[in-house]
Amino acid sequence: MSENSFYLTTPIYYVNDAPHIGHAYTTVAGDVLTRWHRQRGESVWFLTGTDEHGQKVLNTAEKNNVAPQEWCDRLVEGAWKPVWKALNIANDDFIRTTEPRHMERVQRFLSGLKDQGHIYSGKYEGPYCIGCEEFKLPGDLLDGGLCPIHSKPCDILSEENWFFRLSAFVPALLEHYKNNPSACEPTSARNEVLAFLEGDVQDLSISRSTFDWGIPVPWDTEQVIYVWFDALLNYATAVGLGDEPGSAGAEKFAKTWPADVHLVGKDILRFHAVIWPAMLMAAGLPLPKKVFAHGWLLVGGEKMSKSKLTGIAPADITDHFGVDAFRYYFLRAIPFGSDGSFSWEDMGARYTSELANDFGNLASRLIAMIEKYCGGAIPALARDAGLEAALAETVTKADAAMVALDFQGGINAIMEFCKRVNGYVTEREPWIVAKDESRTPELLEILYNTADAIRALAVLLYPVMPTTCETLWNSLGMDSEISSQKISEVATWGQIKPGTRVTKGAVLFPRLEEPAAK
Ligand code: ME8
Ligand code: MG
Repeated sequence: MSENSFYLTTPIYYVNDAPHIGHAYTTVAGDVLTRWHRQRGESVWFLTGTDEHGQKVLNTAEKNNVAPQEWCDRLVEGAWKPVWKALNIANDDFIRTTEPRHMERVQRFLSGLKDQGHIYSGKYEGPYCIGCEEFKLPGDLLDGGLCPIHSKPCDILSEENWFFRLSAFVPALLEHYKNNPSACEPTSARNEVLAFLEGDVQDLSISRSTFDWGIPVPWDTEQVIYVWFDALLNYATAVGLGDEPGSAGAEKFAKTWPADVHLVGKDILRFHAVIWPAMLMAAGLPLPKKVFAHGWLLVGGEKMSKSKLTGIAPADITDHFGVDAFRYYFLRAIPFGSDGSFSWEDMGARYTSELANDFGNLASRLIAMIEKYCGGAIPALARDAGLEAALAETVTKADAAMVALDFQGGINAIMEFCKRVNGYVTEREPWIVAKDESRTPELLEILYNTADAIRALAVLLYPVMPTTCETLWNSLGMDSEISSQKISEVATWGQIKPGTRVTKGAVLFPRLEEPAAK
């Protein structure tokens, strides 16, 4: 893995239904973070995809009277990929667990573990939640044997299966998390993982024998590989796990692995912070640098979910507020790691005050004044020590927060600078200065400083709101590409060239229509 690379993954989502805003929350966060790292000049790889095997997907396909592969194809092409495209997600790869490139590498990996003595046959008896696709411990369940996440009764399984010696890795996992606190974040997540590891960890059944929608166990084709064992491997199969030395896959793997961040919701923390690293340890592979478990979007105090039919489609929100406001809102409003509820009113209020007023109006006022007072051309270079220092501080703060996955802190720092620029304009009153011809130099200075500050704001907000910031960039007449702007250079004052012609573009954040009743 080279120093300057950054590999980030999202969960691969079940295709039992179309995406809702909970899935979009994770994927947008991953997109914003990888765009930020690209702007830092790093070589980024951003992976997302779909988890297509297992009983949950099979049952859904059967309910719809469609063969499972056809069901998956329909959902992936008709729902998942189009939603990510609509939300402007710039993933580098999209893995589907039904692809041969994945299935072959999974089988090879499992055979390797068996050869090394990490797999044995045994009998599994106990509860299983199909919604979670998880073998449960009786102690995990609510009264009446209900799954605490799905509030539904579990199946009781009794199967001869293959087992992975998970318990053998507990001491090494404890050691790993004690020595590397940043390997599991936030702290609440790490504590949960440590508490789990300090309990009675059982070996894991990694195959199923009562249905066949899965990857066959290579040495026992009566069984399919347990869907989570299959799914977790996507992060490594997608970048060439186990390919022959000298092959393109091996080269990609050497460049990319280990992952820098596995972004997940807290519902699937244990799989990622216990089972997955144990699988990697068993294979002698390096562990991911960080598993970050964010909180849940709630509906009526409960996790929004496909199974409970409480999912809100992203388009219900983007139709009203636009894609960029959607990308902005959840990361700005909810501390990453905490739960949060979506509120139409709160989103409307932030849209109007932060996006339309603070940011959009600042830009449109500046462009209108340059047109009115300077014939539409950026005036001579000027400096304002206060603004310049505030910008430098903003960039340092925002960068530190973003790379630490503190999206709220990062966006706040940038929006504070936006307020500071508004304050500068209000204080300097260019519209008053313009009335006195002897004060023209002062007027031009104010307009240059404001323009260059807005240039910086466009770059800093670009990872969050790519379309809007590119529109703004173009209306400032910048001749470079906004995507090639580096975070390390954004605070260098004076990048907008005097004489550049600005143009009044479309309104960045149009006034909202009255919300449809929701
Ligand atoms: O668990 N709030 O897939 P899944 C926030 N296939 N995030 C939410 C959310 C909510 N209400 N609902 C879903 C699976 N998410 C497995 C993953 S990975 C090897 C296999 C997001 O379709 C969040 O990231 O149930 C959560 O962890 C994920 O979607 C679960 O998606
Ligand atoms: Mg789920």
